[in-house]
Amino acid sequence: MNILILGGAGFLGNNLVRRCLQEPGNNIVVVDSLEPRLKSTIDNLKEVWDSIEFIQGDIRDAALMKKIVQGKDVIFNCAAQTSHPLSLTDPFFDVEVNCLGNLTLLEAVKKYNKQALVIYISSSTVIGKAVGEVVNESHGELPLEIYSANKGVAEKYYRIYNRVYNLNTLTLRFANLYGPYGKAYPEFGFINYFISLAERDKEITIYGEGQQNRNVMYVEDAADLLYQCIFHKRIFGNVYFAVHREHYSVRKIAEEIVSVFGKGKIVKIEWPETRRRIEIDNVIISGAKLFYEIKWEPKYTLREGLIKTKEIFENRKLKHAKGK
Ligand SMILES: NC(=O)c1ccc[n+]([C@@H]2O[C@H](COP(=O)([O-])OP(=O)(O)OC[C@H]3O[C@@H](n4cnc5c(N)ncnc54)[C@H](O)[C@@H]3O)[C@@H](O)[C@H]2O)c1
Repeated sequence: MNILILGGAGFLGNNLVRRCLQEPGNNIVVVDSLEPRLKSTIDNLKEVWDSIEFIQGDIRDAALMKKIVQGKDVIFNCAAQTSHPLSLTDPFFDVEVNCLGNLTLLEAVKKYNKQALVIYISSSTVIGKAVGEVVNESHGELPLEIYSANKGVAEKYYRIYNRVYNLNTLTLRFANLYGPYGKAYPEFGFINYFISLAERDKEITIYGEGQQNRNVMYVEDAADLLYQCIFHKRIFGNVYFAVHREHYSVRKIAEEIVSVFGKGKIVKIEWPETRRRIEIDNVIISGAKLFYEIKWEPKYTLREGLIKTKEIFENRKLKHAKGK
């Protein structure tokens, strides 16, 4: 298959590239702007450099999108402005990438490759604060910051292009992914940030009692789920939550990290006002609909995912130490 991975130098993108490479015969093109404001780098892709074609480019570039979508069987769009705080300090940047970028891609697919399967990666945070005990796809959307608002807008673009132009679009809403090739900064997901603190034997600060629940998923499961969706054309045209059945409190997640990595110390602090205002509180989401449709289940529990993450970190350190 000819596969295009937009935003493939990022956390999920790196794992998806590796998942696609597991199947013989896949030709993979990665496009990523290596956006400095998102602290993006090419470093992690260097490990698979000889197996992919990499183009440094922007999803807002209509000429590039015109050229690059042609001849592709599958297009995964992982390219996004992914910092919730940055979306508030620079909302215009967020709208440019998370709205206009997606429209630019969709226009290119509409004009130059209507057959392609196009999978858009969205976020569970489009719903805002959860109402009721368990959230499913019929939950309303009242996002709390600009990133989530724009992710929700882009979801509608994908749906509209499916309904109006018959494009094969699919949206999966992920939540709290963790694992290798992530970024060690709090604005890009708290679990990878906690892991980076534990690795360096630092304090892991949790807000309040850390009782808020979160669905969590090991990123290799997320990459496998995205790959499996290619073979279920029936589900295209829809929006699904793509979350693990497992959910834990933030405190429990921090405790598991400290236990698996054998380092780090949990410290409780008062909620900073800016975080409290965009906090989604307790949320338990159901991914049952998607799992039922494609008969798929995640492989890793939280503990197993953390153990695998630690193994990958250690192997990479060993390779770097040997200069490989
Ligand atoms: N990581 C999670 O827990 C999580 C949860 C829910 C949804 N998502 C979604 O998954 C997708 C991937 O997220 P991630 O965690 O890998 O983030 P990431 O920041 O690691 O990766 C995003 C990549 O997109 C690239 N990019 C940004 N703007 C671009 C542009 N204009 N053109 C081309 N490339 C551009 C960046 O350079 C970066 O490499 C995003 O759409 C995000 O909203 C992630």
